[in-house]
Amino acid sequence: MKIIESKSSKQTFELGKAVGNKICQGICIALKGELGAGKTTFVQGLAKGLGVSEKYYITSPTFNIINEYPAKSLTLCHLDLYRLGSFDELEYIGFDDLIDDSHIIVVEWPQLLNDISFKFDIQINFKFDAQYNRIISISASGQPGSNLLCKLVL
Ligand SMILES: Nc1ncnc2c1ncn2[C@@H]1O[C@H](COP(=O)(O)OP(=O)(O)OP(=O)(O)O)[C@@H](O)[C@H]1O
Ligand SMILES: [Mg+2]
Repeated sequence: MKIIESKSSKQTFELGKAVGNKICQGICIALKGELGAGKTTFVQGLAKGLGVSEKYYITSPTFNIINEYPAKSLTLCHLDLYRLGSFDELEYIGFDDLIDDSHIIVVEWPQLLNDISFKFDIQINFKFDAQYNRIISISASGQPGSNLLCKLVL
């Protein structure tokens, strides 16, 4: 596990960018943490690191559940399950078809997927400390996740 203290949204953005820089194949990332903890800020940096065009402004896909962005040969899929009622709804929008080597799947509010024991490669937790800085912990499970975490120099 790697733990980082982020004192600004810029630092959280840069962390996302550093992770994005190291990704070269499909991977699933869960982003946990309260409202305003910095999950979307991290995804903005991730997109930058992946080479997503500046013409896209990345916001939480709270109402449309999923946003997709082309990133070089890969596709960034940003999901926000905050308003999702059940896993069936996710199946209905074709979630299963996204899981392959060309999709980077990043999920805010992943609880519904955790409930069905969906296997994320990387879990990132965002917590506030007493000064409202963010304590960000990154953990990996499985080989692709561990490889990515090893490559991260923070
Ligand atoms: N260290 C920090 N890291 C990230 N964001 C920070 C930090 N300090 C302040 N902020 C601010 O906190 C807010 C984080 O918002 P963001 O949309 O990234 O959160 P979120 O976790 O995606 O929330 P939600 O669950 O509502 O989607 C932004 O306004 C950002 O500028
Ligand atoms: Mg968000």
